[in-house]
Amino acid sequence: MKIHHLAKAPSILNNYLNQLRDQEIQKDSMRFRRNLERIGEILSYELSKHLHFQEEDIVTPLGVKHAQNLQDKIVICSVLRAGLPLHQGILNYFDWVENAFISAYRYHTSDTEFEIIVEYLASPDLDKKVLILADPMLASGHSLVATFEALTKVGLPKEIHLVTAIASQEGVDYIAKHFPPETRLWVGDIDPELNDYAYIVPGLGDAGDLAFGEKLQK
Ligand code: URA
Repeated sequence: MKIHHLAKAPSILNNYLNQLRDQEIQKDSMRFRRNLERIGEILSYELSKHLHFQEEDIVTPLGVKHAQNLQDKIVICSVLRAGLPLHQGILNYFDWVENAFISAYRYHTSDTEFEIIVEYLASPDLDKKVLILADPMLASGHSLVATFEALTKVGLPKEIHLVTAIASQEGVDYIAKHFPPETRLWVGDIDPELNDYAYIVPGLGDAGDLAFGEKLQK
C-alpha cells in the first residue's frame, strides 16, 4: 500500500487538523463538520494528481485550448455516519461522480471487545471504476476492511483510494495487510496509539458525536 501522510509537510491542512483535535474548538460542531469537509477537499486535490487524464479540446469564446481533463469513473463510498462531512468535501471536488453509503458500526461484546456489524449498503456497480473510500478516523482498521469486503459484492474497482483525516499506526498496518497492494492511503495525520476502547490517542475523540451529537448507544 502506498501511504500519503500529508501532515508531515507543513500546510494549511495542519491547521484544520489541529482545530479538529482541540478540545475547545471542536465543541463548535459546525466548524468541526466544515473542517472535516475542508480536509476532504484537500485530500481530493492531492489524490486527483494520481487519476487519469485525457487530452481534450476546450472551446473558449476566443479559441480552442488543448488541455488535460479527468476521465475516470469515480465512486465515493462513506461509512455512516461520521463519514458524511468528509464525503461532502470529496464530493465538492468530484462533483459529477457516483456515491455509495454503508453502515458499519462496532457492536461491543465487552468494554474492550467488539465486532463490526455491516447492515446497510447502497452502491452503484463498482466494476472498473475508481473507488474512493472515506472514513475520517482509521482506528483499528476493522470497519474499513469489513466495508471493503461488503463492497466486493458490488463489483471490482480498478483502483482504490482510502481517504482519512486521522489514522492510528496500528490501523494503517492492519489495512496494509488486508487491502490490495496497489491501494493508496491519503491520510491527514497518523497517531501512535489506540486506547483499550480502540480510540485513537491523541486523536480527537468521537468524530460522529462531535459532528452530529451524542448517541444513546456507545
Ligand atoms: N472513531 C472515532 O470517532 N474516533 C476514534 O478515535 C476511533 C474511532
